[in-house]
Amino acid sequence: MAQIIDGKAIAQRVREEIKEEVDELKRRGITPGLAVVLVGEDPASRIYVRNKKNAAEKTGINSFEHHLPEDTPQDELLRLVRRLNEDDNVHGILVQLPLPAHIDTAVVIEAISPEKDVDGFHPYNVGRLLTGNPIFEPCTPKGIMELLKRSGIEPAGRDAVVVGRSNIVGKPVALMLLAQNATVTVCHSRTRHIERKVSEADILVCAVGRAGFIRGGWIKEGSVVIDVGVNRLEDGSLVGDVEFEEARRRAAHVTPVPGGVGPMTIAMLLSNTVLAAKRRAEG
Ligand code: GUN
Repeated sequence: MAQIIDGKAIAQRVREEIKEEVDELKRRGITPGLAVVLVGEDPASRIYVRNKKNAAEKTGINSFEHHLPEDTPQDELLRLVRRLNEDDNVHGILVQLPLPAHIDTAVVIEAISPEKDVDGFHPYNVGRLLTGNPIFEPCTPKGIMELLKRSGIEPAGRDAVVVGRSNIVGKPVALMLLAQNATVTVCHSRTRHIERKVSEADILVCAVGRAGFIRGGWIKEGSVVIDVGVNRLEDGSLVGDVEFEEARRRAAHVTPVPGGVGPMTIAMLLSNTVLAAKRRAEG
């Protein structure tokens, strides 16, 4: 029976550590500030943004929320981003994705100053991650690596399989596992014989967004299963991408949904904001 990786408890510990760093910065006269920009009314995004803002405030980080209407012109959003780039009270800028269809996401991300890009989405930061010298690592992948570390799981030499190739999770977590010397396979919608590849994974990271996509029977005995999926069922409950009960019988470690990766994403956003503030202070 797998050990459940308690992301909620680990994230809580991380947040306490971050709060100590924030207190120390405040003693030096620096209050880290995070600007969160939301465009439109997507219900999931509104919840994420509220959670990020509340978490920042609980940690002693100033949060500046900018909620713009759905029909905001791209130029207006760019003007706001540029203003936040210049604002000394703001150390981190997060523009919640997805953006409405009339806005070019890449243009907005590139407008964020790389020194304030706490999401790690700017091409400069992506390039730094690719070349093994990261400045800001994207929050969800960073949270996954932190969960592994704090659970005593060493990726070096292990076969890691990442299912999903998004810029937010799949691609960066593959790079981060590679940087820690795992042998990484990335699977996606066009992968053939995915069950065979998954069944060889010592470490499986699944970020697809489809309930039950990974069958419990595919899971390798004694493996580590990190489920990034958040899927709402008709009865209102939340589940991941992996058939949890069967995975739990086979794996050695497994993350639950909810309470696994999710809480770590927010903790890492706070961590990156503190990092941004420290970097500015230290020049
Ligand atoms: N939408 C889903 N995940 C994320 C994230 O980590 N950052 C931002 N900005 N938007 C998201």
